[in-house]
Amino acid sequence: MVSILVLNGPNLNMLGTRQPEVYGHTTLPQIEQMCRQLSEELGISLAFEQSNHEGVMVDMIHASKGVHDAIIINAGAYTHTSIAIMDALASVELPTLELHLSNVHAREEFRHFSYISRVAIGLICGLGPAGYLLSLRAMVDHLGVKA
Ligand code: DQA
Repeated sequence: MVSILVLNGPNLNMLGTRQPEVYGHTTLPQIEQMCRQLSEELGISLAFEQSNHEGVMVDMIHASKGVHDAIIINAGAYTHTSIAIMDALASVELPTLELHLSNVHAREEFRHFSYISRVAIGLICGLGPAGYLLSLRAMVDHLGVKA
């Protein structure tokens, strides 16, 4: 069975109460639940993780080699700063999709640059929690999974 890791970075554990005008009211556990339901429908295995620590995220990416078939990553602010996470993604050579709840390109200048984009097959941003579901569908399509 195809397995996808959805990896969430710093501050995403605060969804629901964190700047709801930007990120909405849906919590990360609620997003995880939505992803689990869709994964069942798509017939794929899902790992859903969150860390506030760059090194822990690097470790999780390394550990995904040989375990997962693809990575969907919302790296939070590390998107714009972390060469280490970009290098980790490049080193495991798994198809990676970059995800953001908000439209980073409509926000501050410093959010327009992404290290993750350099190693991602594509990017979904600005669609809120629905972006997680669209990312799963897009990755399943990319992997050519047969239901
Ligand atoms: C984010 C966008 C980032 O710029 C920000 O630092 C986040 C969340 C998003 O999902 O919109 O923490 O990745």
